[in-house]
Amino acid sequence: MMPIEIKKDIYHVGVVDWNIRDFHGYSTYKGTSYNAYLALDDKKALFDTVKKPFCGQLLHNIRKVVDPRSIDYLIVNHVEMDHSGSIPEVIEAIQPEKVFCSTMGKKALEAHFGSQRWPLEVVKSGQEISLGSRTVRFLETRMLHWPDSMFSYIPEEKLLISNDAFGQHWATSETFDDQVALSELMRHAAKYYANILLPYSPLVQKLLATVSESGLEIETIAPDHGIIWRSQPKAILEAYDTWSRQESQAKALIIYDTMWHSTEKMAHAVASGLAEEGVSYKVLSLKHNHRSDVMTEVLDSRALLFGCPTLNNGMLPTMADMLCYLKGLKPANKIATAFGSYGWSGEAVKLITQQLQEMKLDVLEPGLRVQYVPDHEALAQCVELGRQVGRAVKESTP
Ligand code: FEO
Repeated sequence: MMPIEIKKDIYHVGVVDWNIRDFHGYSTYKGTSYNAYLALDDKKALFDTVKKPFCGQLLHNIRKVVDPRSIDYLIVNHVEMDHSGSIPEVIEAIQPEKVFCSTMGKKALEAHFGSQRWPLEVVKSGQEISLGSRTVRFLETRMLHWPDSMFSYIPEEKLLISNDAFGQHWATSETFDDQVALSELMRHAAKYYANILLPYSPLVQKLLATVSESGLEIETIAPDHGIIWRSQPKAILEAYDTWSRQESQAKALIIYDTMWHSTEKMAHAVASGLAEEGVSYKVLSLKHNHRSDVMTEVLDSRALLFGCPTLNNGMLPTMADMLCYLKGLKPANKIATAFGSYGWSGEAVKLITQQLQEMKLDVLEPGLRVQYVPDHEALAQCVELGRQVGRAVKESTP
């Protein structure tokens, strides 16, 4: 991509990664971007870098705007490799006077790149530096996404450079929210939240409160992935408020895998029960849906019903994978239960139920087990399980 001027003398000089399809377990079917920003003032500042293989493109973009050697400051908002991988090469190219980072950022930089003779300067929340006609105010955002993370805010432009927060894994030729369909943009933002930031929801709530109390005026939010919010910053701030409250809709998910279609038959019978109660639902086979797409649906669902047969005294590997991923993302405020077919030992439902309890979900016990192939009576029990969950969903959602 070419450098794009996002505000007068502030450029997006990042790169688009059209080909990435997996981001530590998150399916990035539509690629992503690694955004970096360059502010030109009396002092010139580069905010973040890009993933290492794209360093040449970043430097090429910078050269289209200024001589890299004229850049004074490098601001490291986050040390995860998708933003820091190019730092050694970039520092070599620009020879900055100062490299600003948080306290944890300094530790992380040293852990990633060794004790380099870089001119690191640690900044704290609320601290400001002057670029000349503009100021950069730092706001530490620990664990959003790593302990080192921070935002950079330029009050004169009402511009928040937000690093991972408010981002999306979506490769586009467009740069701004008014150039794409808002519904698709929000869908990518929701997937990103569900798969990356959900476990840190209490911290997102605190951060939003801090931003609101400090009266920070935000006209533009420029994240380090995806589209820049210049027309609808309020829409993404409100969505983060909703998502971080883990508010859900009257919606249920049936997440299942099957061996010889018995658990699948149960899944569809459970769905009939939900339908009878008038509850919206989705039936998601783990053979056909990536764990990270399931997570996107989990974000606003009130109930999760897990269907799995027993295999070798345990559960199918696809279900174990899903539950491991789900547990790490710390969903809350969910009704949950399990069902499945078995041959002789039948442990899967019990094992899934235990995991749901460990996640502190509102578990409906004991779930439902059916030996071998469900007959008419067993399917009626599945329908009743769906109805029971459906009633619980309706009673607990506005
Ligand atoms: Fe986009 Fe936490 O890195």
